[in-house]
Amino acid sequence: MTHRISYRGLSLAFGTLALSLASLFAAPAAMAQTANPPMAGAATSQADTLYRALGEKPGLVALMDTFVANIVADARIAAQFKEANVDHLKTQLVDQICVVSGGPCEYKGASMKLIHANLDITKADFHALVEDLQAAMDVRGIPFATQNQLLARLAPMHRDVITVK
Ligand code: HEM
Repeated sequence: MTHRISYRGLSLAFGTLALSLASLFAAPAAMAQTANPPMAGAATSQADTLYRALGEKPGLVALMDTFVANIVADARIAAQFKEANVDHLKTQLVDQICVVSGGPCEYKGASMKLIHANLDITKADFHALVEDLQAAMDVRGIPFATQNQLLARLAPMHRDVITVK
């Protein structure tokens, strides 16, 4: 039995249990982070533990490569990425996940709310994308504990990403 945040667990994170579920896995410093945390250029600190566990910049580049490949091959959501510039998306995701995981990066992309505003994203779409990320982390050999930490930090973004309630 693993301790990965399951599809169902992440669904719960959408509700009132968001805080308690996330606090199971995320360090207190991470709890204060939002979709666009003010960590630009942050020096290394204890918050960078997750960043290091993800393999720092090279690890994130490899992970986003696999993640985006999974997304565009995923029949459930591929259509939503038809117009997207995949290379640009990968670059932005690397920077964003770097910041979210406490790395010394700067995310200069659009806000989560703005970029997803007109994409008609449902809860099911969000879940599909999370599964694609989990599969990518499996392929990259990222341990479950590390997977859970990243998922816990991404879960609150559903508020800005899911536009079809
Ligand atoms: C936690 C979940 C998500 C995160 C962290 C995330 C992150 C991002 C980032 C960083 C970008 C690039 C922003 C930029 O170019 O400035 C982006 C773009 C995009 N996202 Fe998401 N996203 C998430 C969920 C989703 C979901 C569920 C969908 C649809 C199924 C989606 C569809 C798209 C599309 C189509 C673009 C490209 C838009 C364009 O280039 O015009 N995203 N996302």
